[in-house]
Amino acid sequence: MSKKPIILGIESSCDETAASIITENEQGIPIVLSNIISSQDEIHKKFGGVVPELAARSHIEKIDWIVKKAINDSGIKINEINAVASTAGPGLVVCLSVGLSFGKSFAAAMNIPFISVNHLEGHALSPKLNSKLDYPYLLLLISGGHSQYLSVRGLGSYRRLGTTIDDALGEAFDKTAKLLGIKFPGGPQIEILAEKGDPKKFKLPKPIFNKGGCNLSFAGLKTAILKISKNIKNQQDRYDIAASFQKTIEDILEKKTQVAFNEFESVNRLKNKIFVVAGGVAANKRIRSMLIKICNENNYKHIFPPINLCGDNAAMIAMVGLEKFKIKKFNNLDYPAKPRWPLDENALFLKGAGVIL
Ligand code: KG4
Ligand code: ZN
Repeated sequence: MSKKPIILGIESSCDETAASIITENEQGIPIVLSNIISSQDEIHKKFGGVVPELAARSHIEKIDWIVKKAINDSGIKINEINAVASTAGPGLVVCLSVGLSFGKSFAAAMNIPFISVNHLEGHALSPKLNSKLDYPYLLLLISGGHSQYLSVRGLGSYRRLGTTIDDALGEAFDKTAKLLGIKFPGGPQIEILAEKGDPKKFKLPKPIFNKGGCNLSFAGLKTAILKISKNIKNQQDRYDIAASFQKTIEDILEKKTQVAFNEFESVNRLKNKIFVVAGGVAANKRIRSMLIKICNENNYKHIFPPINLCGDNAAMIAMVGLEKFKIKKFNNLDYPAKPRWPLDENALFLKGAGVIL
């Protein structure tokens, strides 16, 4: 039996301090041996968003015991780890620096390779943690900082088909929640409130619905909700706003995903049509079921990460580390934090929206 690589993953790009140990079985299926996540929601709640300085301090306080716990819980010995993979970007530079420095020091002390990981690539590969996933696939990445359709052709090979031209989808959920008086991060609460509301009560805008290819825009929604929220009289109004917002997002994603299907098919020769959804907002069950419906209608196989691996975690960072380890793609210990690090570095000019992001 050949010895399989054991990878330590570290994530600290925003407000989650996380560490994970993964390996794979004889068939090459990844096995998550431990996955420790410490959220800072309680710290940032009262400020209505993530405060970088406080986030970084908390990472510094916790990183040591989070990594220790990941190693202890995994059942392996520290000297069995073959490589360490840390998120190097995108994210808050003061936060990235904590996990990155810890990972580099760990690699140096243990004399093992260091691997830098793009956080977005972590989300992109997160479905591999529980599903067999063949390239190419169409990826919808919907998180607190990003909303993109990407054609994924292999490890490190991404072509951006569309992106948001203003707010990210998770940000739109969080801002709507804030206007309804829900503390940060309110995205998951919107989904719950929406269950009790009338989705037809408020007509909300659908920016660039019929233009801009599969680019997305959510800023106009926030402005519309700001106006409506000034007249909130009772709890039912809140339910109705949440339901109308949730339904509008579903309509936008339904339409834009159809456009993305066409663009994906025009840039790839496909044997199988595969659609992957990842990032924190992929935990939204109504968005999931709408996307499953259109996948079925368009003969796409749909793949979602498990709900607990949609948000930020280190197992997805270790997953990228594992793939890079297998092709010996290691990095030097002077690798910098990259607060802005697009997945598709050669394709920054977007057709349709006419903007450079
Ligand atoms: O991927 P993630 O954990 O962090 C980033 O990389 O940004 O995504 C966090 C975002 C937050 O904006 C959060 O409100 C949103 O995902 N989110 C949700 C749900 N669960 C998390 N949005 C809508 N419905 C949910 N169930
Ligand atoms: Zn993320």
